[in-house]
Amino acid sequence: MSPSVTVRVPAKVNVQLAVGGVRPDGFHDLANVFLAVGLYDEVTVTPAGELRVTCSGPDAAQVPLDASNLAARAALALAARHGREANVHIHIDKDIPVAGGMAGGSADGAGALLACDALWGTGASREELLGICAELGSDVPFSLAGGAALGRGRGEILAPLPVGGTFHWVFAVADGGLSTPAVYAECDRLREVSGQGSSVTDVPEPEPSPALLDALRTGDAAALAAAVTNDLQPAAVSLRPSLTATLDAGTGAGALAALVSGSGPTTAFLVRDEEEGTKVADALRASGTCRSVRVAAGAVAGATVR
Ligand code: C5P
Repeated sequence: MSPSVTVRVPAKVNVQLAVGGVRPDGFHDLANVFLAVGLYDEVTVTPAGELRVTCSGPDAAQVPLDASNLAARAALALAARHGREANVHIHIDKDIPVAGGMAGGSADGAGALLACDALWGTGASREELLGICAELGSDVPFSLAGGAALGRGRGEILAPLPVGGTFHWVFAVADGGLSTPAVYAECDRLREVSGQGSSVTDVPEPEPSPALLDALRTGDAAALAAAVTNDLQPAAVSLRPSLTATLDAGTGAGALAALVSGSGPTTAFLVRDEEEGTKVADALRASGTCRSVRVAAGAVAGATVR
């Protein structure tokens, strides 16, 4: 039997996503407070004649299996740096909602990178791996790191954050995805329409909320609920107005906070404890305002070899 390596990688929710103006390179400066939550993709790499990607799981049909897949790009990037062929079969067992704002694609990139490093005995340093992650995408370094972190720059410059307790979440998965670039472009458009302007010279530099960082540090769910914000939420709701009904259904069922997860369209509901989570999850299922409902808690560890 060929040796293989499996890496488990968590999803994320952004508890604060403060978006600055659009930069000359087209990206936006962020103050992005990430929390890793316990929904996982598993990425398995096995030696093969050539690079190929397969995927299993309920939403597998929506996952691109060509060179645009971040897992394939991760294998190619690591192989190129170490002067070898990326001749592996990458299998993704997908449980993170696809195109939902929970960093499922980024998780697969980070997972494939760590798995190939272990399979090939590359011995890349943590810094090298994080550097490759940053080239792959803005959220990929956090998928490797996990826990909780403040992401500056376009989200790739990470500072770990202390978390003093477990936060319980319910996630409502919408029908279909939302394109991240389209949501950022809509955020810019809404800022232009409001007369604010959308460039780095118009929009104040994004800053993390001290109250939110305190709530994370002390593990206080009610305080965190009062502090969560997502500057992309108006844009996601503008592109997908039905999200309002989902957010209202979760709030009506007693969630402490309701917000769009990242660029959406998955919505995230912070709840007091596991029991409350079951209630909110049942109510969301019964509301008919979403395709499926998941519960998860965080913070959890980042990409880990099994
Ligand atoms: O880095 P990533 O490939 O995930 O970014 C996808 C797209 O999201 C970018 O091409 C850009 O349109 C948008 N984006 C942004 N500012 C960020 C992160 C992403 O405008 N900080």
